[in-house]
Amino acid sequence: MENSRRKFIKNIGGSVAALSVAPTVSPNENIVHKSLVSKAKVSANDKIRIGLIGAGIIGHYDTDTALKVDGIELVAVCDLYTGRIERAKEKWGNSLFTTNDYRELLAKKDIDAVLICTPDHWHQKMAIDAMNAGKHVYCEKPMIQKIEDGHAIIETQKKTGKVFQVGSQRASSVAILEAKKYFESGIIGELTYVEAYCDRTDAKGAWQYSIPTDASPQTIDFDKFLGNAPKVPFSAKRFFRWRNYKDYGTGSAGDLTVHLLTGLHTITSSIGPNKIFALGEVNYWKDGRDAYDLINSFMTYPQAKTHPSFQLYTRINLASGEGKGGFGIKLIGTDGAIDIGWNDFKVKTLKRSVAPGFGGYDSFDSFSAKQKEDYKKWYSEKYGDKKGGYEMGKTIEFAPPANYDDRLDHMISFFNGIRSNSPILEDATFGLRTAGPSIACNISAEKNKALNWDAEKMKLINAS
Ligand SMILES: NC(=O)c1ccc[n+]([C@@H]2O[C@H](COP(=O)([O-])OP(=O)(O)OC[C@H]3O[C@@H](n4cnc5c(N)ncnc54)[C@H](O)[C@@H]3O)[C@@H](O)[C@H]2O)c1
Repeated sequence: MENSRRKFIKNIGGSVAALSVAPTVSPNENIVHKSLVSKAKVSANDKIRIGLIGAGIIGHYDTDTALKVDGIELVAVCDLYTGRIERAKEKWGNSLFTTNDYRELLAKKDIDAVLICTPDHWHQKMAIDAMNAGKHVYCEKPMIQKIEDGHAIIETQKKTGKVFQVGSQRASSVAILEAKKYFESGIIGELTYVEAYCDRTDAKGAWQYSIPTDASPQTIDFDKFLGNAPKVPFSAKRFFRWRNYKDYGTGSAGDLTVHLLTGLHTITSSIGPNKIFALGEVNYWKDGRDAYDLINSFMTYPQAKTHPSFQLYTRINLASGEGKGGFGIKLIGTDGAIDIGWNDFKVKTLKRSVAPGFGGYDSFDSFSAKQKEDYKKWYSEKYGDKKGGYEMGKTIEFAPPANYDDRLDHMISFFNGIRSNSPILEDATFGLRTAGPSIACNISAEKNKALNWDAEKMKLINAS
């Protein structure tokens, strides 16, 4: 069927033939297996000194990963809980400069770049202060807690010229980058619909993280943690499980939908949706939290240079009874689908017959005997012996290299940006274009209202 959508997809560039992956023999002849190959290469190895702000869970992952890149040295750590400062010294050495005031870390002349791994409500201020202090910034996702805070980060990055990268590692995943080539080749026809999800099951997955037994106002600077958030009495639960409270985090949508949009925007080169509607509730984890543990959203993406118009459905469920948890983005086109897990994916394709076919579940059986004969004759004159329906092509399954870590590729992208000025895909504009619609899901659910999003200007149009 030739229509305007199909004409559109033909204009998309890219070539699957150019892919660098080698097929391997499969015992199932309907499946072709291919191995993914990471192309991330460290561009040079002159020394880059980093400081970590926020030495909690991801602060450790990010720092350990950064230290795997040649020439990276950790010189300072800032955190508000004494136990985490002790742990940093245990792990990375007693000579580290440590503080509970991030401005002291930023004032150090021997630091080139910072990793910002604090709760969401601190990201914007720390990122801006860091760039103004002459530091390059790797800022964890979501880039901002409030949509309107994003523009100042973009402006500060432009003004200072510092390298700024958001820490949603999907943007550098070998699976996402390879899936992008397949998408751009047009192999799945016209993209019409995307479904993306993140399911979790247990308490830790639902952010009920361990609270140390020595947590107290003596070991934690709670006022610094609060920052500009409403003043409340000391609460270890709020400090260690901050994601569960709207005052500090961005809920399931800001925290996890943002990863889904990062993958989707990387693949489609989209700048974002124009309409967002979400339903959210505290469904299962009624532990005093006010952030949704179940949120579903629908978004529409208008046609752009790099993709046709399509619909997106996202689901974040922190109490899934399926028991396995998981993460996925499925792009469904008219002629196939790309089904992405965390760092693996499958491509399915089909070919529809030009003939409609007849019989089976069809009106044909309800025709009189004479009409059946007349119809068969007419069909055969028009279509010959062509059958209707469709045929599936071979499924292509991609697997990442053993122990592949997309976070490492993402760190390499950040440090290459510093060393050789190579482009940063997940820059501040990209970060606002993924965090904005994700955070808008919370606003839509709260207001029970579909919101219009101006993806170009990165602004909600009808939020009030
Ligand atoms: N990219 C990913 O896959 C990924 C995964 C998990 C978390 N994250 C992001 O990383 C960030 C941190 O998450 P986490 O799970 O590590 O949280 P966490 O609570 O384990 O760690 C946060 C740390 O920040 C410190 N902190 C808070 N306010 C501070 C301040 N004003 N100054 C200095 N330190 C301060 C706390 O003491 C704490 O140790 C969040 O924004 C989260 O969304 C990203």
